[in-house]
Amino acid sequence: MESRQGRYIVEKLISKGAEADLYLGEWYGIPAVSKIRKPKPYRVPQLDQEIRRQRTVREASFMTEARRGGVTTPILYFVDENKAEIIMQYIEGRRIRELLKQGDGDPEIFSRLGQSIANLHLHGIMHGDLTTSNFVLTPDHKLVFLDFGLTFFSNRIEDMAVDLHLMKQVLNSAHTSVSSQVFKSVLEGYQLRAGKNLVREIGAKIREIERRGRYARVD
Ligand SMILES: Nc1ncnc2c1ncn2[C@@H]1O[C@H](COP(=O)(O)OP(=O)(O)O)[C@@H](O)[C@H]1O
Ligand SMILES: [Mg+2]
Repeated sequence: MESRQGRYIVEKLISKGAEADLYLGEWYGIPAVSKIRKPKPYRVPQLDQEIRRQRTVREASFMTEARRGGVTTPILYFVDENKAEIIMQYIEGRRIRELLKQGDGDPEIFSRLGQSIANLHLHGIMHGDLTTSNFVLTPDHKLVFLDFGLTFFSNRIEDMAVDLHLMKQVLNSAHTSVSSQVFKSVLEGYQLRAGKNLVREIGAKIREIERRGRYARVD
């Protein structure tokens, strides 16, 4: 299959998500990934097209914005608003998810992860989906952030806490045996950038969210 006058050539499907399909391929001969948001049959077609277009544009602009904030993201090659497609640099490496599943993972990596999350937050960017599938460690040890489809701007401590709380939940459920150690390293890294006071405030908010969660379950 070829598209865009042959500039992007699809090789294989690498991920099928709820919202998007990702293909590995080549862009002008360079390894590249295409992320395409699929039409949802249950939405009114015009609205569906608009939602996919907006999320595509948002994801692409936040990838660039995050890089300005000092976080490594794939380089954008091409954005097709009408097809809801982003073509970006292919990032070779292992996801943090696999690293943890295989029992790897030096605390230094998680501290760096925390520093990068803090960089985003201090830049007013809430990632919105801090799961271990959205970070890749490259062979030359760069930490790359993926998946800015749920990202938004905010300066609220509560939003920072919600971002980190999601990461804590993912660690607890998918990487239970190492979760507390890993989350501790993430927060230590975060604190190096954000400082003690902000981390203390965010920590208190996280505990508040956890308490609310418990009450919500009792109800
Ligand atoms: N630029 C990229 N380079 C290499 N792999 C990628 C890239 N972007 C996404 N992937 C892979 O595809 C998966 C899904 O991509 P992601 O953007 O997170 O979509 P989803 O919204 O479905 O979670 C990622 O977990 C990662 O394994
Ligand atoms: Mg993802």
